[in-house]
Order: sequence, then C-alpha cells, then structure tokens
Amino acid sequence: MRTPSLLLLAILLTVAPVSLQSAAHTTELLRPEKTTHLRFFLHDTLSGKDPSAVFVARGANREPKPDDPVPFSSLYATDDVLTEGPERHSKVVGNAQGLYISSGRRQLSLVLGMDFELTDGPFNGSAFVVYSRNPVAAHPGGRELAVVGGRGEFRMARGYALLRTHYLDNNTGDAIIEYNVTLLRH
Ligand SMILES: *[C@@H]1O[C@H](CO)[C@@H](O)[C@H](O)[C@H]1NC(C)=O
Ligand SMILES: *[C@@H]1O[C@H](CO)[C@@H](O)[C@H](O)[C@H]1NC(C)=O
Ligand SMILES: *[C@@H]1O[C@H](CO)[C@@H](O)[C@H](O)[C@H]1NC(C)=O
Repeated sequence: MRTPSLLLLAILLTVAPVSLQSAAHTTELLRPEKTTHLRFFLHDTLSGKDPSAVFVARGANREPKPDDPVPFSSLYATDDVLTEGPERHSKVVGNAQGLYISSGRRQLSLVLGMDFELTDGPFNGSAFVVYSRNPVAAHPGGRELAVVGGRGEFRMARGYALLRTHYLDNNTGDAIIEYNVTLLRH
C-alpha cells in the first residue's frame, strides 16, 4: 500500500480543522430562525452639561442656520440612553453608541452607524447594529432603518427598525425617538 505523500498529509492537516469549524457553523445556521421584537425610546440629547450626542466636525462653509441646524457633513458621536417608555426617567434598558452624519444636501437626512447594547432583561449584554440612512425630514412620521448584525444573543442577526420622532426640541435638537425593532436570529 502506498503511504500518503507529505503533501497529502499537509493538506489533510490544514483542511481538517477548517472543515470541522464550518460544520459547527452550518449546524448553527440550520437551527430555525427566531424572531425578536424590541421596543424602546432613544434619547438623543445635545443640550445641557452632559449631552449624549456631541458634535465632532463639519465640512468647510457649512455653518448651521436657523432653518438648517444640522448642515450637510455634520458628524456627531453618540452614547444615547434607551428607555422603556418615552420619559427620560423611565427604566433604562440600554445605550446606543456610535455616530451619525448629516448626509442630505437638500434636506435633513442622516446616516447612522450605531451599536445598540441592551443592559436589562433577557438580552442583557447583547447588541444589534444599525448602519442605515435615516431620512428624518422626508419621513417624520415613520422611517425604516436596516439592522446589519449583532453580538451575543443577536450574533449574525439581521432585521429592521421602524422609527418615529416622539419629541423634537427645534432649538436644541434634543430628540426622543421611538424604535420598534424586528430581529431574525438563529
Ligand atoms: C446585566 O449584566 C451585567 C453584566 O453581567 C450585570 O452587572 C447587571 O447586573 C445586569 N443587569 C440586569 C438588570 O440584569
Ligand atoms: C411600535 O409598536 C407599537 C405596538 O405594536 C405601536 O403602537 C407603535 O405605533 C409602533 N411604532 C412604530 C414607530 O412603528
Ligand atoms: C418642531 O418642529 C416641528 C415641525 O415644524 C413641529 O411639528 C414640532 O411640534 C416642533 N417641536 C417642538 C417641541 O416645538
């Protein structure tokens, strides 16, 4: 009987661990998908001594005007509070860390890149990630954002978030946004 060549051995040794990993991965993917609904309110607070959204930068010649407080190219960093109900003193259920940039030249539209981590309930410590356009001015009554992934219980999740502006202070920009999130996960 021919003994396996060194080359064949080398191939077997390198390929085997990879295929075992992908088998485990496939089993995870074959589990039926679960649907999870989350509802909360995001507090994006620009005013006061401890704002949760902070202006970072904007392009040259893009100064804010009364009718255009967040001009095209404005970049904000966020650590926004998520609460169960619309009031700020309502139970805190998580936080949304990331950024948003004013991406519309003609009317207010944002692109959000944010990681929503839950700090309460059965998904404490897990997070989903939104990376999406948020056409604030075009659809004040309801917008849909894409959920592109997640961590923990929401690993490999996908889905969408339906948003509605619950409150907007037109002077400070402080806003409370209602989120209904639908996640598909394994
Ligand atoms: C959420 O998880 C953290 C870290 O494990 C823990 O410290 C905290 O008490 C948990 N919160 C709730 C409300 O269960
Ligand atoms: C979120 O879901 C609740 C309960 O189903 C509903 O009353 C509310 O209108 C929804 N809000 C949005 C922004 O989709
Ligand atoms: C902000 O302006 C919008 C649109 O003009 C208006 O619907 C809303 O009531 C205003 N918000 C406050 C708190 O005045």
